[in-house]
Amino acid sequence: MPLEQVTVKAPATSANLGPGFDIFGIALEQPNDTVTLTAIKQGIKIQNRGIGAKTISLTPEKNTAGLVAKKMLKDFKINSGLQIHIEKGVFPGKGLGSSAASASAVAVGINAMFSLNLNIKQLIEYAAKGEVAAAGSEHADNVSAAICGNFVLIRSYDPLEIINLECPKDLELAVAMPKMITPPNKTEKARAVIPKLVPLEKHVHNLGKASAMAAGFAMGDVDVIGRSMVDDIVEPARSILIPGYSVIRENALNVGALGVTISGAGPTMIAFVNGKTCDAAKVAVAMGEGFRSAGYDVDAFATRPGRGACVVEEME
Ligand code: HSE
Repeated sequence: MPLEQVTVKAPATSANLGPGFDIFGIALEQPNDTVTLTAIKQGIKIQNRGIGAKTISLTPEKNTAGLVAKKMLKDFKINSGLQIHIEKGVFPGKGLGSSAASASAVAVGINAMFSLNLNIKQLIEYAAKGEVAAAGSEHADNVSAAICGNFVLIRSYDPLEIINLECPKDLELAVAMPKMITPPNKTEKARAVIPKLVPLEKHVHNLGKASAMAAGFAMGDVDVIGRSMVDDIVEPARSILIPGYSVIRENALNVGALGVTISGAGPTMIAFVNGKTCDAAKVAVAMGEGFRSAGYDVDAFATRPGRGACVVEEME
C-alpha cells in the first residue's frame, strides 16, 4: 500500500565550486526546501509557499517538481494523483540549487511513498529531469549534491557515474546572496557567456585545481580544498554578471577565506573557510559588503556542508 503522505527535506546546494564546472557540487546544511506529497485521486496539483515562491510556475510542465513527478508517475505506471506542497527555503534564481532542492525532494518522496526502491543514481536521473524547467539543460551537479549530501563529483554523465565524499569537519562555508531580481532564464544566460573553446594553459590550470580539490576531499584536507577554489575558464566570463565581484573576492580573502567563487550560475558568491582558524560569519559579512558597495542589499550567512534529501515524516 502506498503511503498517504510523505514530507521530505532537501538542501540548498552550490555547484561548480570554482574549477569543477558542471561536475562538482556540495550540499549546504542551510537553507532547505520542505516538500510534502499527498496522494490525491488524479492529476498533479502544486502549491508553493515560502521565500520567492510567487516567482515559480504552478503548471506541472513548467515546474521543476512537477516535471519530476509527472515522469515518475508515468514510468512506474502509478495510478494516483499527487498534491505537491513546496515550502521554499532556498530562494529561487540565486545560484543555490533552488530548483534542484524541490526536484530532489519530489524524487525521494515518490520513491518512499510508492516503495519504488530506486537507487541513488536513478533518483539523481529523475531529479535531473526537473532541471530542464529551470535551466534548459539536464546538468546533474546540484541534484547529485541535493540527493547524496556532502561533496559530489560527476565522473561521467553518460552513463551517469557519481562519486560522493564526506566533508572534513572544519570545512565551513560563507554565503552572500544579493537581493537582486534575476530573469527566469538566468542560468541559460549565464551559460551563454561561457567560452566554447578553452586555451590549453587554462585547461591545465583548471585541471590542476579540480584534481587537487577532489584529492582534498578524499584526504580530508580543508586547506587543499579551499585553496583549490579557483577557476580560470568559466568564472572570468561570468564575473561581469556579478555586481561588485572583485570587491567581494578581495574582501573574502582579506578576512581569511581560503577560496571564493560564484555559486553555480550566480549571482550568489560562496567561500570555503577553515572553521578552526577563521570565522565564516565574518567572511560572509565581508562578502556582503562587496555587494553593498555595488548598490545591492544582501543576505549573508555562514553554514556547513549538509546531508542529502531525506524523508522527515510519513503518514500511512
Ligand atoms: N553547473 C551549472 C552552471 C549550475 O554553472 O551553469 C547551474 O545551477
